[in-house]
Amino acid sequence: MDSKKRTSKRIAVIPGDGIGREVIPEAVSVIRASGAAVEMTEFDWGADRYLRDQTTVPPEGFAMLGRDFDAILVGAFGDPRVKTNIHAKEILLGMRFKMDLYANVRPVRLLDAALCPLKGVEPKDVDFSVLRENTEGVYTDAGGVLKLGTADEIATQEDINTRKGVERIIRYAFEYCQTQTRLDGSPRSKVLMCDKSNAMTYAGGLWQRAFKEVSAEYPKIAAQHMYVDTLCMQMVRDPRQFDVIVTNNMFGDIITDLAAALQGGLGMAASGNIHPGRTSMFEPVHGSAPPIAGKNVANPLGAILTAAMMLRHLAFEEEADRIEAAVLEAVRQKKTTEDIGGDLGTREAGDWVAGQVSGKGVSS
Ligand code: NAD
Ligand code: IPM
Ligand code: MN
Repeated sequence: MDSKKRTSKRIAVIPGDGIGREVIPEAVSVIRASGAAVEMTEFDWGADRYLRDQTTVPPEGFAMLGRDFDAILVGAFGDPRVKTNIHAKEILLGMRFKMDLYANVRPVRLLDAALCPLKGVEPKDVDFSVLRENTEGVYTDAGGVLKLGTADEIATQEDINTRKGVERIIRYAFEYCQTQTRLDGSPRSKVLMCDKSNAMTYAGGLWQRAFKEVSAEYPKIAAQHMYVDTLCMQMVRDPRQFDVIVTNNMFGDIITDLAAALQGGLGMAASGNIHPGRTSMFEPVHGSAPPIAGKNVANPLGAILTAAMMLRHLAFEEEADRIEAAVLEAVRQKKTTEDIGGDLGTREAGDWVAGQVSGKGVSS
């Protein structure tokens, strides 16, 4: 076995639905162009497969992913033909929950001032990460409906917060702060816990206590707190103040769409669903965007940056650096889709980045 073979990593690729099927092929060709020693295997999990044979996740699907792959690259799930959204729930939330990918890491970085809707905000001003708890909260879907369809209907949706679950994501945030630098190479220094403990006192109380205890173990890191409503206001008023934000599943979902807008929109935002030491999953923050699907207009850069994040996770640092540099160059030269000011299609924008990454320029 040669050394390339020995270090080669196995990646499961699940494009999913809608624009996931357009942006993921671009991310895959950029990975190929980077020369990273990976073997990619594609899976057809998504709406078409579900509508064809009622399969969302094949039997033993998650066990197979964990056993046979080093990482998973995912597009998006959601299709107007599947009204219940059951396939998205079983595939996407299934991976997060059943593979226990408890840390949803969502970096927020502005690559060029022109992409930010805020006045006078530059790339150095928007460089923070949201660490979202990914296996609990209201997403556990615990609850139910009584007296369905009557005037007395009762619906409950439980917010599940376990001491272990809350503590491990908070600890992950402090470790992340300690080990990850900002884009300019300077160290990170603050962890801000975001909750709504003034109204949701039981869950909030647990988050407050766990945060206080874990933060005491990291005396060099500033521990801060903000209610989620204030945080939304501050993110728009002055994003410079944020460094590492840790929060629950639902608040993390909401604030990362808001944060994506600071980066140039959902088409620019990357994420990783991580359990240290286990097969982790990487996906752009955006969804399947049915209205623009199939039109070659979706921005592939969020998916491409997600691929870079995955490669970095797999220790392909140099390849990840080259991909991120190429994306930055695409943004600067406006070799992009229309949502961020260029005039290229999805494929053409992906080709341009792949050309830069391979050093060969645009091939088509
Ligand atoms: P969405 O992220 O698909 O789209 C929101 C808006 O952003 C739309 O205007 C869309 O056109 C735009 N947008 C998103 N990605 C873009 C890109 N790459 N380039 C250019 N514009 C982009 O969110 P939605 O409309 O609320 O949801 C659509 C479907 O996607 C739903 O079924 C939803 O449940 C699903 N969804 C899935 C995921 C996921 O699989 N991770 C994430 C979010 C939403
Ligand atoms: C996301 C998405 C998902 C979430 C949906 C599709 C369930 O919005 O990844 O941000 O809420 O986590
Ligand atoms: Mn979301």
